[in-house]
Amino acid sequence: MAYNIKETRATASRINEVDINNIVMGHAFTDHMFICDYEDGQWKNPRIEPMHEIPTHPAAMALHYGQAIFEGMKTTLGKDGSPLLFRPDENAKRLNFSADRMGMPLFPEDLFIEGLKRFMAIEHNWIPTSEGSALYLRPFMYADEAFIGMRAATKYKFIIFASPAGPFFSKPIKLWAETKFIRAANGGTGEAKAAGNYAAAIRPTEIARTKGYDQVLWLDARDFEYVQEVGTMNFFLKIDGKWITPNLGGSILAGITRMSVIDLLRDKGFEVSERPITMQEIVAAFENGTLEEAFGAGTAVGIAMVEEIGYKDMKIKFPAENPVSEEVKQTLEKIKHQEIEDKFGWIVPVELDASVDA
Ligand SMILES: Cc1ncc(COP(=O)(O)O)c(C=O)c1O
Repeated sequence: MAYNIKETRATASRINEVDINNIVMGHAFTDHMFICDYEDGQWKNPRIEPMHEIPTHPAAMALHYGQAIFEGMKTTLGKDGSPLLFRPDENAKRLNFSADRMGMPLFPEDLFIEGLKRFMAIEHNWIPTSEGSALYLRPFMYADEAFIGMRAATKYKFIIFASPAGPFFSKPIKLWAETKFIRAANGGTGEAKAAGNYAAAIRPTEIARTKGYDQVLWLDARDFEYVQEVGTMNFFLKIDGKWITPNLGGSILAGITRMSVIDLLRDKGFEVSERPITMQEIVAAFENGTLEEAFGAGTAVGIAMVEEIGYKDMKIKFPAENPVSEEVKQTLEKIKHQEIEDKFGWIVPVELDASVDA
Protein backbone atom coordinates (compact mmCIF):
# COMPACT_ATOMS: atom_id res chain seq x y z
CA MET A 1 0.00 0.00 0.00
CA ALA A 2 1.30 3.49 -0.82
CA TYR A 3 1.27 5.78 2.20
CA ASN A 4 0.91 9.52 2.22
CA ILE A 5 4.08 10.55 4.07
CA LYS A 6 4.11 14.29 4.59
CA GLU A 7 7.53 15.91 4.30
CA THR A 8 8.73 19.07 5.99
CA ARG A 9 12.36 19.80 5.11
CA ALA A 10 14.97 21.43 7.35
CA THR A 11 15.75 24.93 6.12
CA ALA A 12 19.49 24.20 6.17
CA SER A 13 21.54 21.05 6.59
CA ARG A 14 23.87 20.68 9.60
CA ILE A 15 26.11 18.26 7.74
CA ASN A 16 29.02 20.66 7.53
CA GLU A 17 29.17 20.85 11.32
CA VAL A 18 30.53 17.29 11.55
CA ASP A 19 33.12 15.14 9.84
CA ILE A 20 30.89 12.18 9.06
CA ASN A 21 33.85 10.10 7.91
CA ASN A 22 35.63 10.40 11.20
CA ILE A 23 33.10 10.07 13.93
CA VAL A 24 32.19 7.83 16.85
CA MET A 25 28.69 6.37 16.61
CA GLY A 26 25.85 8.05 18.46
CA HIS A 27 27.15 11.59 18.84
CA ALA A 28 25.77 13.33 15.76
CA PHE A 29 22.33 13.09 14.21
CA THR A 30 21.11 13.79 10.71
CA ASP A 31 18.81 16.64 9.68
CA HIS A 32 15.48 14.82 9.73
CA MET A 33 13.40 12.16 11.45
CA PHE A 34 10.49 9.97 10.44
CA ILE A 35 7.63 10.01 12.93
CA CYS A 36 4.20 8.41 13.24
CA ASP A 37 1.60 8.55 16.06
CA TYR A 38 -0.59 5.80 17.44
CA GLU A 39 -3.93 6.72 18.97
CA ASP A 40 -7.55 5.57 18.82
CA GLY A 41 -6.27 2.12 17.87
CA GLN A 42 -4.42 3.14 14.73
CA TRP A 43 -1.17 4.53 13.35
CA LYS A 44 -1.67 8.04 12.00
CA ASN A 45 0.07 10.90 10.32
CA PRO A 46 3.35 9.39 9.06
CA ARG A 47 5.68 12.29 8.37
CA ILE A 48 9.25 13.40 7.94
CA GLU A 49 10.24 16.47 9.90
CA PRO A 50 13.42 18.33 10.71
CA MET A 51 15.12 16.57 13.67
CA HIS A 52 13.65 17.98 16.86
CA GLU A 53 13.07 17.22 20.50
CA ILE A 54 9.70 15.82 21.51
CA PRO A 55 7.79 17.26 24.46
CA THR A 56 7.37 14.52 27.09
CA HIS A 57 4.70 14.45 29.79
CA PRO A 58 6.17 13.41 33.17
CA ALA A 59 3.58 10.60 33.26
CA ALA A 60 4.49 9.28 29.79
CA MET A 61 4.13 5.54 30.36
CA ALA A 62 7.41 4.51 28.70
CA LEU A 63 9.27 6.39 31.44
CA HIS A 64 7.61 4.40 34.21
CA TYR A 65 6.57 1.02 32.87
CA GLY A 66 9.18 0.64 30.16
CA GLN A 67 7.12 0.06 27.04
CA ALA A 68 9.98 0.97 24.72
CA ILE A 69 11.50 -1.14 21.93
CA PHE A 70 13.96 -0.41 19.17
CA GLU A 71 15.82 -1.65 16.13
CA GLY A 72 19.31 -1.00 14.82
CA MET A 73 20.26 -0.97 11.14
CA LYS A 74 23.02 0.42 8.96
CA THR A 75 22.94 2.01 5.51
CA THR A 76 25.88 2.07 3.17
CA LEU A 77 26.33 3.57 -0.29
CA GLY A 78 26.07 1.37 -3.33
CA LYS A 79 28.28 1.52 -6.42
CA ASP A 80 25.89 3.93 -8.13
CA GLY A 81 25.62 6.16 -5.04
CA SER A 82 22.24 4.90 -3.86
CA PRO A 83 21.73 4.09 -0.20
CA LEU A 84 21.56 0.36 0.50
CA LEU A 85 19.46 -1.16 3.25
CA PHE A 86 20.42 -4.57 4.62
CA ARG A 87 17.50 -6.99 5.12
CA PRO A 88 15.13 -4.24 6.33
CA ASP A 89 12.17 -6.64 6.23
CA GLU A 90 13.83 -8.61 9.04
CA ASN A 91 14.05 -5.50 11.21
CA ALA A 92 10.40 -4.70 10.51
CA LYS A 93 9.44 -8.23 11.57
CA ARG A 94 11.60 -8.18 14.68
CA LEU A 95 10.19 -4.81 15.75
CA ASN A 96 6.75 -6.36 15.69
CA PHE A 97 7.94 -9.46 17.53
CA SER A 98 9.22 -7.10 20.25
CA ALA A 99 6.02 -5.02 20.15
CA ASP A 100 3.90 -8.11 20.64
CA ARG A 101 6.00 -9.29 23.62
CA MET A 102 5.77 -5.86 25.26
CA GLY A 103 2.02 -5.43 24.72
CA MET A 104 2.54 -2.68 22.16
CA PRO A 105 0.73 -2.18 18.85
CA LEU A 106 2.25 -3.71 15.74
CA PHE A 107 3.64 -1.25 13.20
CA PRO A 108 2.69 -1.91 9.54
CA GLU A 109 5.75 -3.58 8.02
CA ASP A 110 5.22 -1.95 4.62
CA LEU A 111 5.08 1.49 6.27
CA PHE A 112 8.29 0.66 8.16
CA ILE A 113 10.04 -0.03 4.84
CA GLU A 114 8.46 2.88 3.00
CA GLY A 115 9.25 5.29 5.85
CA LEU A 116 12.87 4.09 5.86
CA LYS A 117 13.17 4.53 2.11
CA ARG A 118 11.65 8.03 2.11
CA PHE A 119 13.86 8.99 5.04
CA MET A 120 17.01 7.64 3.40
CA ALA A 121 16.20 9.29 0.09
CA ILE A 122 16.38 12.61 1.95
CA GLU A 123 19.33 11.83 4.25
CA HIS A 124 21.64 10.00 1.84
CA ASN A 125 24.28 12.75 1.97
CA TRP A 126 24.90 11.71 5.58
CA ILE A 127 26.14 8.21 4.67
CA PRO A 128 29.86 8.04 5.46
CA THR A 129 32.13 6.43 2.91
CA SER A 130 35.30 5.84 4.95
CA GLU A 131 36.22 2.20 5.61
CA GLY A 132 34.08 0.54 8.28
CA SER A 133 31.73 3.54 8.52
CA ALA A 134 27.99 3.61 7.79
CA LEU A 135 24.87 5.54 8.66
CA TYR A 136 23.26 3.90 11.68
CA LEU A 137 19.46 3.92 11.66
CA ARG A 138 17.45 3.71 14.84
CA PRO A 139 13.76 2.85 14.40
CA PHE A 140 11.99 2.75 17.78
CA MET A 141 8.60 2.81 19.46
CA TYR A 142 7.57 4.00 22.91
CA ALA A 143 4.46 4.61 24.98
CA ASP A 144 3.74 8.31 25.32
CA GLU A 145 0.33 8.24 26.97
CA ALA A 146 0.25 10.22 30.22
CA PHE A 147 -1.23 7.77 32.72
CA ILE A 148 -0.39 6.11 36.02
CA GLY A 149 -1.29 2.44 36.15
CA MET A 150 -0.10 -0.93 34.98
CA ARG A 151 -1.66 -1.59 31.61
CA ALA A 152 -0.74 -1.23 27.96
CA ALA A 153 -0.65 2.40 26.89
CA THR A 154 -3.12 3.64 24.29
CA LYS A 155 -0.75 6.18 22.70
CA TYR A 156 2.63 5.50 21.14
CA LYS A 157 5.16 7.07 18.84
CA PHE A 158 7.20 5.30 16.18
CA ILE A 159 10.29 7.22 15.09
CA ILE A 160 13.30 6.63 12.85
CA PHE A 161 16.40 8.77 13.23
CA ALA A 162 19.97 8.31 12.07
CA SER A 163 23.52 8.82 13.29
CA PRO A 164 26.71 8.54 11.20
CA ALA A 165 28.94 5.86 12.69
CA GLY A 166 32.62 4.98 12.37
CA PRO A 167 34.06 1.49 13.03
CA PHE A 168 33.28 0.18 16.51
CA PHE A 169 36.04 -2.11 17.76
CA SER A 170 39.29 -1.77 15.86
CA LYS A 171 40.99 -4.68 17.63
CA PRO A 172 39.91 -8.07 19.03
CA ILE A 173 37.78 -7.84 22.14
CA LYS A 174 37.88 -9.40 25.61
CA LEU A 175 34.69 -10.84 27.07
CA TRP A 176 33.78 -11.31 30.70
CA ALA A 177 31.64 -14.43 31.25
CA GLU A 178 29.24 -13.14 33.89
CA THR A 179 28.41 -15.47 36.78
CA LYS A 180 26.51 -13.10 39.09
CA PHE A 181 24.19 -10.97 36.97
CA ILE A 182 21.92 -12.21 34.18
CA ARG A 183 20.60 -10.54 31.04
CA ALA A 184 17.60 -12.72 30.34
CA ALA A 185 15.74 -15.81 31.47
CA ASN A 186 13.43 -18.02 29.44
CA GLY A 187 9.98 -16.52 29.48
CA GLY A 188 11.40 -13.03 30.07
CA THR A 189 12.02 -10.33 27.49
CA GLY A 190 15.49 -11.32 26.27
CA GLU A 191 14.35 -12.28 22.80
CA ALA A 192 12.64 -8.91 22.35
CA LYS A 193 14.67 -5.80 21.58
CA ALA A 194 13.25 -4.06 24.62
CA ALA A 195 14.93 -1.01 26.15
CA GLY A 196 14.77 -2.55 29.64
CA ASN A 197 17.08 -5.40 28.61
CA TYR A 198 19.79 -2.85 27.96
CA ALA A 199 19.13 -0.97 31.21
CA ALA A 200 19.71 -4.21 33.12
CA ALA A 201 22.99 -4.78 31.27
CA ILE A 202 24.54 -1.36 31.88
CA ARG A 203 25.88 -1.88 35.42
CA PRO A 204 27.29 -5.40 34.82
CA THR A 205 29.00 -4.07 31.66
CA GLU A 206 30.54 -1.22 33.63
CA ILE A 207 31.84 -3.68 36.19
CA ALA A 208 33.30 -5.91 33.44
CA ARG A 209 35.09 -2.84 32.02
CA THR A 210 36.69 -2.10 35.38
CA LYS A 211 38.13 -5.63 35.18
CA GLY A 212 39.63 -4.84 31.76
CA TYR A 213 36.97 -6.49 29.56
CA ASP A 214 35.14 -4.87 26.63
CA GLN A 215 31.79 -6.63 26.89
CA VAL A 216 29.88 -9.13 28.96
CA LEU A 217 29.40 -12.70 27.73
CA TRP A 218 25.97 -13.50 29.16
CA LEU A 219 25.31 -16.95 30.58
CA ASP A 220 21.99 -18.63 31.26
CA ALA A 221 19.94 -17.48 34.24
CA ARG A 222 19.61 -20.86 35.95
CA ASP A 223 23.01 -22.51 35.93
CA PHE A 224 25.37 -19.75 34.71
CA GLU A 225 26.76 -22.41 32.43
CA TYR A 226 25.23 -22.02 28.96
CA VAL A 227 26.49 -19.19 26.76
CA GLN A 228 23.79 -16.79 25.52
CA GLU A 229 25.16 -13.71 23.76
CA VAL A 230 27.50 -10.75 24.04
CA GLY A 231 26.47 -7.15 24.84
CA THR A 232 24.84 -6.17 21.55
CA MET A 233 26.07 -9.16 19.55
CA ASN A 234 25.38 -12.83 19.03
CA PHE A 235 28.22 -15.24 19.74
CA PHE A 236 30.01 -17.61 17.33
CA LEU A 237 32.70 -20.10 18.25
CA LYS A 238 34.88 -22.50 16.25
CA ILE A 239 36.01 -25.69 17.97
CA ASP A 240 37.98 -28.33 16.09
CA GLY A 241 36.97 -27.04 12.66
CA LYS A 242 33.24 -26.71 13.40
CA TRP A 243 31.25 -23.56 14.04
CA ILE A 244 28.73 -23.32 16.86
CA THR A 245 26.34 -20.55 17.90
CA PRO A 246 23.89 -20.75 20.80
CA ASN A 247 20.43 -21.82 19.66
CA LEU A 248 17.62 -19.29 20.05
CA GLY A 249 16.08 -20.85 23.12
CA GLY A 250 13.73 -18.06 24.18
CA SER A 251 16.15 -15.67 25.88
CA ILE A 252 18.54 -14.68 23.05
CA LEU A 253 17.92 -11.91 20.53
CA ALA A 254 17.55 -13.32 17.01
CA GLY A 255 20.24 -11.21 15.37
CA ILE A 256 19.96 -10.39 11.69
CA THR A 257 23.75 -10.51 11.44
CA ARG A 258 23.58 -13.92 13.17
CA MET A 259 21.19 -15.36 10.60
CA SER A 260 23.28 -13.90 7.77
CA VAL A 261 26.56 -15.23 9.19
CA ILE A 262 25.09 -18.73 9.53
CA ASP A 263 24.20 -18.63 5.82
CA LEU A 264 27.65 -17.26 4.87
CA LEU A 265 29.54 -19.89 6.87
CA ARG A 266 27.44 -22.71 5.43
CA ASP A 267 27.92 -21.25 1.96
CA LYS A 268 31.69 -21.37 2.55
CA GLY A 269 31.35 -25.08 3.33
CA PHE A 270 31.49 -24.97 7.14
CA GLU A 271 29.30 -26.99 9.43
CA VAL A 272 27.37 -24.63 11.75
CA SER A 273 25.42 -26.00 14.71
CA GLU A 274 22.85 -23.92 16.53
CA ARG A 275 22.93 -25.65 19.90
CA PRO A 276 23.60 -25.06 23.58
CA ILE A 277 27.26 -24.29 24.34
CA THR A 278 28.54 -24.71 27.90
CA MET A 279 31.42 -22.86 29.48
CA GLN A 280 32.81 -26.29 30.39
CA GLU A 281 32.98 -27.17 26.70
CA ILE A 282 34.87 -23.94 25.96
CA VAL A 283 37.28 -24.53 28.86
CA ALA A 284 37.88 -28.13 27.70
CA ALA A 285 38.56 -26.98 24.11
CA PHE A 286 40.98 -24.35 25.44
CA GLU A 287 42.79 -26.98 27.49
CA ASN A 288 43.03 -29.54 24.70
CA GLY A 289 44.04 -27.01 22.06
CA THR A 290 40.92 -27.22 19.83
CA LEU A 291 39.61 -23.71 20.55
CA GLU A 292 40.14 -21.97 17.21
CA GLU A 293 38.16 -18.76 16.71
CA ALA A 294 35.30 -16.76 18.22
CA PHE A 295 33.50 -13.57 17.29
CA GLY A 296 30.55 -11.41 18.19
CA ALA A 297 28.15 -10.52 15.37
CA GLY A 298 25.78 -7.56 15.35
CA THR A 299 24.74 -4.59 13.24
CA ALA A 300 26.41 -1.83 15.23
CA VAL A 301 29.71 -3.65 15.69
CA GLY A 302 29.80 -5.91 12.64
CA ILE A 303 32.07 -8.87 13.33
CA ALA A 304 34.25 -8.44 16.42
CA MET A 305 36.96 -11.04 16.93
CA VAL A 306 37.36 -12.36 20.47
CA GLU A 307 40.83 -12.66 21.94
CA GLU A 308 39.99 -13.68 25.49
CA ILE A 309 37.15 -14.80 27.72
CA GLY A 310 37.54 -14.13 31.42
CA TYR A 311 35.67 -16.83 33.34
CA LYS A 312 35.86 -17.08 37.13
CA ASP A 313 39.62 -17.03 37.75
CA MET A 314 40.54 -18.25 34.24
CA LYS A 315 41.68 -16.38 31.16
CA ILE A 316 40.59 -18.38 28.13
CA LYS A 317 42.79 -17.21 25.28
CA PHE A 318 42.10 -17.53 21.56
CA PRO A 319 44.72 -17.85 18.82
CA ALA A 320 45.76 -14.49 17.33
CA GLU A 321 44.82 -15.57 13.81
CA ASN A 322 41.13 -15.61 12.87
CA PRO A 323 41.16 -16.61 9.21
CA VAL A 324 37.53 -17.69 8.85
CA SER A 325 36.11 -14.87 10.97
CA GLU A 326 38.13 -12.40 8.92
CA GLU A 327 36.77 -13.87 5.70
CA VAL A 328 33.18 -13.73 6.96
CA LYS A 329 33.69 -10.12 8.04
CA GLN A 330 35.09 -9.13 4.64
CA THR A 331 32.36 -10.98 2.74
CA LEU A 332 29.62 -9.29 4.74
CA GLU A 333 31.20 -5.86 4.25
CA LYS A 334 31.61 -6.46 0.51
CA ILE A 335 27.97 -7.53 0.14
CA LYS A 336 26.90 -4.42 2.05
CA HIS A 337 28.89 -2.22 -0.35
CA GLN A 338 27.88 -4.09 -3.53
CA GLU A 339 31.51 -5.05 -4.09
CA ILE A 340 30.55 -8.67 -4.64
CA GLU A 341 27.38 -10.32 -5.84
CA ASP A 342 24.54 -10.31 -3.32
CA LYS A 343 23.56 -13.87 -4.07
CA PHE A 344 21.34 -14.10 -1.01
CA GLY A 345 19.23 -11.10 -2.05
CA TRP A 346 19.86 -9.22 1.21
CA ILE A 347 20.40 -5.73 -0.19
CA VAL A 348 17.54 -3.32 -0.81
CA PRO A 349 18.60 -0.20 -2.76
CA VAL A 350 16.80 3.08 -2.13
CA GLU A 351 15.82 5.33 -5.01
CA LEU A 352 17.35 8.76 -4.59
CA ASP A 353 15.37 11.94 -4.23
CA ALA A 354 16.35 14.29 -7.03
CA SER A 355 15.48 17.31 -4.91
CA VAL A 356 18.38 16.64 -2.51
CA ASP A 357 21.87 17.59 -3.72
CA ALA A 358 23.81 14.40 -4.48
C1 LIG B 1 21.31 -8.07 22.68
C2 LIG B 1 21.66 -8.12 21.25
N1 LIG B 1 22.02 -9.30 20.69
C3 LIG B 1 22.34 -9.40 19.39
C4 LIG B 1 22.31 -8.29 18.57
C5 LIG B 1 22.64 -8.45 17.11
O1 LIG B 1 21.50 -8.27 16.33
P1 LIG B 1 21.61 -7.70 14.85
O2 LIG B 1 22.56 -8.56 14.13
O3 LIG B 1 20.23 -7.79 14.32
O4 LIG B 1 22.10 -6.31 14.97
C6 LIG B 1 21.95 -7.05 19.09
C7 LIG B 1 21.88 -5.86 18.24
O5 LIG B 1 20.82 -5.54 17.78
C8 LIG B 1 21.62 -6.96 20.46
O6 LIG B 1 21.28 -5.79 21.00
